[in-house]
Amino acid sequence: MDIKTLVSQLTLEEKAGLCSGADFWHTKAVERLGIPASMVSDGPHGLRKQDEGGDHLGVNESIEAVCFPAACATAASFDPALLRKMGEAIGDSCQHEGVSVVLGPAVNIKRSPLCGRNFEYFSEDPYLAGRMAAAFVRGVQSRNVGTSIKHFAANSQEHRRMSSSSEVDERTLREIYFPAFETAVKEEQPWTVMCSYNRLNGVFASENPWLLTEVLRKEWGFEGYVVSDWGAVSDRVAGLAAGLDLEMPSSGGYNDRKIVEAVRAGKLDERLLDQAVERILRIVFRYTENARPDTPWDKEAQHRLAAEIAADCMVLLKNEDALLPLKSEDEIAFIGEFAAKPRFQGGGSSHIHCFKTTSALEAAEGLKVRYAQGFSAAQDSASDEQIAEAVAAARAAKAAVVFAGLPDVYESEGYDRTHMRLPDCQNRLIEAVAAANPNTVVVLHNGSPVEMPWIDQVKAVLEAYLGGEAVGLAAVRVLFGELSPSGCLPESFPKKLADNPSYLYYGGEGNVTEYREGIFVGYRYYDRKETELLFPFGHGLSYTHFVFSDLRLSATRITDRDTLTATVTVTNTGERAGKAVAQLYVRDCESGVLRPLRELKGFEKVFLQPGESKAVSFTLDKRSFAYWNTAIHDWHVESGEFAIEIGRSSRDIALSETVYVESTTVLPRHYDENSIFMDILADPHAAAVIRPLLDGFRETFMPSGEEQTAAAREAITDEMNLAMLQYMPLRALVSFAGDRLDPAVIGQLVAALNAE
Ligand code: BGC
Repeated sequence: MDIKTLVSQLTLEEKAGLCSGADFWHTKAVERLGIPASMVSDGPHGLRKQDEGGDHLGVNESIEAVCFPAACATAASFDPALLRKMGEAIGDSCQHEGVSVVLGPAVNIKRSPLCGRNFEYFSEDPYLAGRMAAAFVRGVQSRNVGTSIKHFAANSQEHRRMSSSSEVDERTLREIYFPAFETAVKEEQPWTVMCSYNRLNGVFASENPWLLTEVLRKEWGFEGYVVSDWGAVSDRVAGLAAGLDLEMPSSGGYNDRKIVEAVRAGKLDERLLDQAVERILRIVFRYTENARPDTPWDKEAQHRLAAEIAADCMVLLKNEDALLPLKSEDEIAFIGEFAAKPRFQGGGSSHIHCFKTTSALEAAEGLKVRYAQGFSAAQDSASDEQIAEAVAAARAAKAAVVFAGLPDVYESEGYDRTHMRLPDCQNRLIEAVAAANPNTVVVLHNGSPVEMPWIDQVKAVLEAYLGGEAVGLAAVRVLFGELSPSGCLPESFPKKLADNPSYLYYGGEGNVTEYREGIFVGYRYYDRKETELLFPFGHGLSYTHFVFSDLRLSATRITDRDTLTATVTVTNTGERAGKAVAQLYVRDCESGVLRPLRELKGFEKVFLQPGESKAVSFTLDKRSFAYWNTAIHDWHVESGEFAIEIGRSSRDIALSETVYVESTTVLPRHYDENSIFMDILADPHAAAVIRPLLDGFRETFMPSGEEQTAAAREAITDEMNLAMLQYMPLRALVSFAGDRLDPAVIGQLVAALNAE
C-alpha cells in the first residue's frame, strides 16, 4: 500500500478525523478510499475485547478470554522466554478476534508499594522490566498484531493520575523511568506507544515534544504511532505538534475540528498532520494486510499455558525446616477464601472476563485436603466462628496452608493503596493458625509488597502474586513438589512502608509529585542505606540447591567501546531438578558521582537436573557500566574498576571479579576562577597545568621560612595544607598570595585549563 499517495487523496477533515477514534476501541474508516477501521483492545495479560458497551475501567463485560498472570507475577519468573510464549498466545487470540493492537505491556516502575496499578507493572528495576517487556512485544508481534507499550512516561502513581505532574530530574528519567521503554523500542519496535495521563515536569505527556519526538523518535528511532491513554488529551493541537498521532477514544469530532481550524488558521503545519495520518495508516494496513481470522484460539491449551507460566512465577520467600514441599499422603488444611476463590488479577482496564479458573482447592482434588474459609474477602472480615473453624482445621492437619492476599478493592487501577498491610482480619487469621499448627505456610496473592507481622511465626511463605486464572493449579503443583519454585522477587519487600525511599514524597502535594529520591528507587536505595528488609530484590528459594562457580571475564581491561563477556557455572547440587536464576550485578568500585551500590545488568534462568552443571554467559557493554551524565546529556563511563558480581539477590553475592573500564569520551572542560583544586587535580590534563604552581605553593602562598615558627611548621604539615587547599577556588590564590601573585595569572590559568 502506498500510504503517502493515499494520504494525499484525503481531505483535511478526513485526515483530522483519522487522528482520533471512531468509538471506544476503533480507528475510523474512510470507505471511499478503502481505509478500514481497526480495533485495539486491552491487555496486557489476556485479551479484553469488548463487543459493545466500551469502557476503560473494567466495568462492562468483555468476551471470554484466558487470564494469564499479571506483570507483577511474570516479572518474577526472570524468564523472558515465558513472556514471549505468553505474547504469542495473546497475539493468536487477537488474530482470532480481529484485534490489531493489544494495549500493553505496561512497564512503569514500581516506585512505591502504594501504587494501585503495581500489579500491572513489572518491577522496581528498569533492566528487568525492559527485558520482560521486549520479550512480550516480540511474542505478540510475531503474530502480526501490534503492542502498545505504556504508559509513557513516569506514571508511577494512580493518585490524581490525570492531572498530576511527575517532577523527575533528567538523570533519573534516563536511568530509572525510561529504560524499559527504550529497550523495547530499540529492540522490538512496538507498533504503538501509549503516552500517559500525567504531566512530566509540568507538560502533559500527551503534548510533550521532548518526550514524544526528541527522545522517542529521534533518539530511540520509534517508527509506529503514539496513542493517547484514554482521555489523556488536553490540548489536541499542541499534542499533534508534539508527536501524539492518535487520540483515543473518540472526542465526538470536537478535537478533530480543532485540528482543521488550526491548519486553516496557519497554526498547525499540515505536514505534521499528514505525518500522523501516515503513521496511523501504516499500522492499520500492516495489520489488515496480515489479518488471519482463521487463527485457532484454543482456550483449554492457553489455560494450561497460564498454569505453566504461573508456576514459574511463584517465589518461595521462606521455607524453614524444608516444610515445603508438602507430602501428598499427609492431611493438609487449606485455609482462607482465596483457596477456593483465588485473587488472580487486578481491577480496571486490564480486567479479563475469564474463560475459567482453577482454584487451589479444585486442583487439590484427590489429595487429603480439608478447607476452612477463614475470612470473607468481599466483606473484609473474619468472624470468630470462621477463625475457630480455621484453627480446628489447622490443629487436625499435619500442615496448614493459609491462602491470603489483598482483596480486589485494596489494589486497582484508578486509585492508590493507603497502607501496605494485609487486611487486619487476615493477619489475625494467620496468627491464630500459626499458633495452632507449627507447620504453617502462607500463600500470598497480591500485586506488590505487604507487611508480614507474622513472618517469624510461620515456617513458609510462597508469593504467588496475581497469577492468572490457573494460579490455583500452579500453587498446588509447587506446594506439593511437582515443580520446584524458581521465581525471584522483582522488587524489594521492605519491613514497613516508611522504609520505602519515596515514602515522604509519594503522591505529592496537589498536582505536583516530586520524585525526590531520584535514582535511588527500590534496592538502589535499600542497599546503599543498608535498610533491613523483609526480603531483598532478586530473592527466591528453591527445593533444590544451586552453586555458582568459576566466574570468568573475557578481559581484565576494556574500553567503553568494547563488550565484556562474563561466564559462570551453575551446578544443581541438590536432589531434584529445578531452575536457577543467575543474576549479574555491576558495581562501580569508586565513583565521582552518586551511584547505587550495584545494579542488575544481566540474568539467565537455567533448568538443571540433580548433579548437572551449565555454563551461563552474559554480554556487557557500555550501558552496563554507564550513568547518565547531565553535562553531556549522554551515557558516560567513568574510567576505573568495576566489580562483576553474580548473586542470588542484590543482598547475596556469591562471586565477584573486577574489570578496568577506560572511558573513550573526554568530558568538556568548563573551568573558571571559581573552580576548586580538587576538581582540577582529578582531571589529568588540568592537573598537569596546575602542577608547577602547586609545587611551589608553600613558597608562594604560605609565610616564608623566616616568618613561620618551627612550631607552626610542625602543626601544619604539607599534607594538611594540601587537604585544606583542595576546596579552595582558583580566585582565592590572589587573596592568600597577596602581592606575591599577579592577579592576571588567574585568567591565564583558566585559559590554559580550558585549552584542548
Ligand atoms: C488505562 C490504559 C488502558 C486504557 C484503555 C486507561 O484507563 O490507563 O492502560 O489501556 O484505559 O482501556
